[in-house]
Amino acid sequence: VRTVPVELGDRRYDVIVGEGVRHQLADRVAEVTADASRAAVVTQSGIGVSVDPGIATTVFEVPDGEAAKSLSVVEGLCRDFARAGISRSDVVVAVGGGVVTDVAGFAAAAFHRGTPYVNVATSLLGQVDAAIGGKTGVNLGEGKNLVGAFWQPRVVLCDTELLTSLPPREWASGRGEMAKYALLSGSVDAAVPSGVGLLDLPLDEQVACCAAVKAAIVAADEHEGGRRAILNYGHTLGHALEASAFGPGAVADLRHGEAVAVGLVFAAFLARRLGRIDEDRVELHRRVVGGFDLSWRLPDGTDPERLVAFMTRDKKARHDLTLVLDGPNGVEPVHGIGPDDVVATLADMERVGRDGRG
Ligand SMILES: NC(=O)c1ccc[n+]([C@@H]2O[C@H](COP(=O)([O-])OP(=O)(O)OC[C@H]3O[C@@H](n4cnc5c(N)ncnc54)[C@H](O)[C@@H]3O)[C@@H](O)[C@H]2O)c1
Repeated sequence: VRTVPVELGDRRYDVIVGEGVRHQLADRVAEVTADASRAAVVTQSGIGVSVDPGIATTVFEVPDGEAAKSLSVVEGLCRDFARAGISRSDVVVAVGGGVVTDVAGFAAAAFHRGTPYVNVATSLLGQVDAAIGGKTGVNLGEGKNLVGAFWQPRVVLCDTELLTSLPPREWASGRGEMAKYALLSGSVDAAVPSGVGLLDLPLDEQVACCAAVKAAIVAADEHEGGRRAILNYGHTLGHALEASAFGPGAVADLRHGEAVAVGLVFAAFLARRLGRIDEDRVELHRRVVGGFDLSWRLPDGTDPERLVAFMTRDKKARHDLTLVLDGPNGVEPVHGIGPDDVVATLADMERVGRDGRG
């Protein structure tokens, strides 16, 4: 079992990683919420994980998928909490992937203007990323994650035993974020193995290393004032690929982490085009993504101009872009990137992918 601290002063907490750590829930709840006498467990029916918070418990289910991240689901949860007699000294326990921890965390942030919560992360993406860092929230019809709050959990349990029931595409999605952390770690925490160094470790250690990188970034910038932007490494193209999976000219449907994997290698190609890194560094990105069993190739039918439009969130005008890129000072946000360089980089990637190199 590994314990990764998230150093946030009086809001500090631990991320506990290992097989079977969900069984520590009752002890941890007693430790971090001494006054709680009731627990509201929020989960999804498909997850099938039962937990014991060690106090009177009521279980609430939310729907599957992004539809669960809505204000109406938050209202429903808060009304359920009230009817179950949950007070502001009680505890909300989120048991699920990023959807559950985002929506239950936001309900906890809003209920009584802030009720303690703990996360039992059940998906790989949740364990390495979503359950850590206190960003909670829901979607609107106008966009994803538009309404939310920073509200830190009291403890995060990452029980790797729970991952055995995770569907293959969800594994792939989590591995895409792991590839991101493997490539970010050198810029963040020299003590954590980086790059291909992460690939040879057992799963528990991989999860703990990723959690440590996320924890270090969150500790440096809790409210996303600057440093936390590097968590978007690989995400600008990744989001564009996800968004362009719908509507006319749609390309293949990629899970979030699968799209991030392509976005990481794109960021490396772009950084090389801009003279920020050399070919060895690009190759490292391809090896890490490939090492996590993910493809870095653009899906068939990708239209570079359409992706640029999604990246600038503007279908009519072509603006300069800010992207997170590797470079001599490590991974950092880079401003003023011209759309022509982005289009040319996408063409480079297609050509190299087609030639079967890398
Ligand atoms: N708050 C943050 O910092 C942050 C960071 C990254 C992502 N996110 C959010 O996380 C969400 C994605 O999270 P996700 O990838 O975990 O998706 P998810 O929560 O939808 O889970 C994926 C699927 O796997 C199922 N599942 C989860 N655990 C399982 C288990 N142990 N066994 C069987 N099935 C299981 C879920 O029910 C769901 O159907 C997105 O909404 C994203 O915006 C938040």
